Amino acid sequence: MQEIHIAGTGVWYPEDVITNDEIVSSYNAYVDNFNESNKDSIASGDIIALEHSSVEFIEKASGIKTRHVVDKKNILDVERMMPSLKHEDESRLSIQAVAGIHAAKKAMTQANVTPDDIDAVILGTSHNARYYPAVAIEIQNELGIDGYAYDMLVGCSSTTFAINNAYSDIASGLAETILVVNPEISTPAVNFGKRDIHFIFGDGCVASVIKKNSSSEKSFKILDRKLMTQFSNNIRSDWSYLARTASDYKTAEDLIFNQNGGSVFKEVCPLVAKFISTQLEKNNIKVEDISKFWLHQANARMINLIVSKIIGSDDFDTNLAPLPIESFGNLASAGSMFAFNLNNDLKSGEKGIICSFGAGYSVCSIIVEKV
Ligand SMILES: CC(C)(COP(=O)(O)OP(=O)(O)OC[C@H]1O[C@@H](n2cnc3c(N)ncnc32)[C@H](O)[C@@H]1OP(=O)(O)O)[C@@H](O)C(=O)NCCC(=O)NCCS
Repeated sequence: MQEIHIAGTGVWYPEDVITNDEIVSSYNAYVDNFNESNKDSIASGDIIALEHSSVEFIEKASGIKTRHVVDKKNILDVERMMPSLKHEDESRLSIQAVAGIHAAKKAMTQANVTPDDIDAVILGTSHNARYYPAVAIEIQNELGIDGYAYDMLVGCSSTTFAINNAYSDIASGLAETILVVNPEISTPAVNFGKRDIHFIFGDGCVASVIKKNSSSEKSFKILDRKLMTQFSNNIRSDWSYLARTASDYKTAEDLIFNQNGGSVFKEVCPLVAKFISTQLEKNNIKVEDISKFWLHQANARMINLIVSKIIGSDDFDTNLAPLPIESFGNLASAGSMFAFNLNNDLKSGEKGIICSFGAGYSVCSIIVEKV
């Protein structure tokens, strides 16, 4: 009988680490400079003074303690407050391809496959590095893979939606083995001068090999997939090629990542809890039979609340819902599979749920069983 497996996964993250103390010191120095430079307008009421951030708030509100980033020095530089990167350019590999190739090699090793075994590359991400040629095709070319490759964007659900596409292509007979790559270089999209979002994101990448009838030791059988989308402006980025033609004025900061975090929290937690509960019911799987919840890493409180709603108790072992967010911050769509990669020591027959959710809104939940 045909089974479709997550045969292996691999992660990559940059070496630079920023602690909460460091991100708050930089932000607070930026605030002091801003308030000093604008003191007259603040005194006259034309500009509102910025307020300090705090380590206590960040840890309590999000659970984040550190994040890995592509350029610590420039993010913390109060005169810059963003990474310093180069334009995408045909003379070198895309930043997403470099991250993706590192993670893909680890995933292929774990899955016991070589580029010759792979029929397609699907790259899912929240922010594309460029429009075309697809970064997935660049990765395909660098790794020497035949077949087809494409990029797709589904916000923070891009990873599970991409795994879903891989499953469908394998189930339809189009392919037997697909490499899914999810680079999330999010810090260039972050306004590090904005108090309610400056601490949230880190950079990283996850890759997964989805394969028909894998025999790798790390294989998990995909039992069920469930997807939904529901329009919301609460997480939004308007950055686009249209910007150069716009006749109305907006700053880059207006156009990049913006969110109404409180509303996202309130709306998405019950939605995802109900979504997963209904999926389990439909599959006749008892909640006690789920050994791991590998959920989107947006906020530790959010993850704990969703799990407590599903299992009907807030008294559960922290191992039930791994929290790489503590060390890596929010890794956008890569977060749930990052959690899976770092904590998937299940016994044969044990089951878990991988679920991403985010901008759109979008949700994709995948039930897996250790082979
Ligand atoms: C962003 C998030 C961490 C903020 O936590 P929160 O508990 O909702 O915090 P709020 O925004 O309601 O702010 C609470 C208070 O802290 C203050 N605050 C906000 N940022 C602060 C900071 N960095 N330092 C100190 N205080 C801060 C607010 O001004 C507010 O003050 P008030 O009560 O006097 O108005 C949280 O809403 C979240 O993670 N939401 C989910 C977002 C998400 O999933 N997004 C998807 C992205 S992939």
